[in-house]
Amino acid sequence: MSGLRSGHSYSAAELSPEGDRVVLLDQRLLPHEERYLEFADAASVADAIRDMVVRGAPAIGIAAAYALAVEARRLGGAEWIEGMRAAGQRLLAARPTAVNLRWAVEHMSRDLAHTDADQLRARALAVHDDDVAACRAIGAHGAALLPDEGTVLTHCNAGALATGGFGTALGVVRAAIAAGKRLRVLACETRPWLQGARLTAWELARDGVPVELITDGMAAHYFGRGEIVAVVVGADRVARNGDVANKIGTYTHACVARAHDRPFYVAAPSSTLDPRTATGADIVIEERSGEEVTSFAGTRIAPIGVQGRHPAFDVTPAHLVTRLVTERGVVPGPEAARLM
Ligand code: MRU
Repeated sequence: MSGLRSGHSYSAAELSPEGDRVVLLDQRLLPHEERYLEFADAASVADAIRDMVVRGAPAIGIAAAYALAVEARRLGGAEWIEGMRAAGQRLLAARPTAVNLRWAVEHMSRDLAHTDADQLRARALAVHDDDVAACRAIGAHGAALLPDEGTVLTHCNAGALATGGFGTALGVVRAAIAAGKRLRVLACETRPWLQGARLTAWELARDGVPVELITDGMAAHYFGRGEIVAVVVGADRVARNGDVANKIGTYTHACVARAHDRPFYVAAPSSTLDPRTATGADIVIEERSGEEVTSFAGTRIAPIGVQGRHPAFDVTPAHLVTRLVTERGVVPGPEAARLM
């Protein structure tokens, strides 16, 4: 694809030039294959979000915005507003934790009675462009927090593939390296979907950023050896009190970082902040199939009869978040509400 809004040679989500299709990079196939899938209605984009074709909170939001732009063009007649509402509900049901999805659906559904398909297309494109701009601002704010050299730990993928482009956590790393800092990244593999092993490693290696892969349980070892100077992760939702939902395993890293007196930074656009959720206890945690844990790449690894459990996210309490970095500025975790 050419002329991508992401600013990279690849993009998680784009709108076709004609405005009639959502184009998603199938992240399930990375790093082995770079294949784009096209979707002509909102229902099929909702399925793609649920099935992890596109993932990462901001990228899900952008895909939903494009889905509603395509749907507006597709629907006609007097019933189109009802059709848009139904499409929005279907998108919202795809994944419950990332609040960017709700944010994008609500943003696209504003004042539909006085909005036409061309305006919704422009609105969706602006959602994408604003996210890239937010990531760049997050990068600039966050880069200043990192030391001049050392190893940064990250979990899951909060990079270009998870956003409109540039990334949140990986945007911080990219901006710091662009500013001359000599940083390396330890990427946790992120069981069971392996976003770290497949996606973070892919996009950083492509950019020439030094990256090494570890299994999730190895992080404490490297903290103990004093190798990790900071943790930088993304977020799926930040509650009003600063509690952070992010990929399962994030909370463990926050605890170990605190035990070793290392900073734990959360980087996220303001569309991930949720003033309507009071605390982390109020965040709905997506429960995915336990079979994603008991099997690996389609092969059963656990004994038949043993069930798996798969909460896709966990909640890191605000007091463990050294700084929350958004495009609006930087605050200690418990002061998140100041940025909402
Ligand atoms: O299940 P995923 O891959 O959608 O989970 C993604 C994460 O947890 C990311 O860290 C988060 O969405 C932030 S992406 C900038």
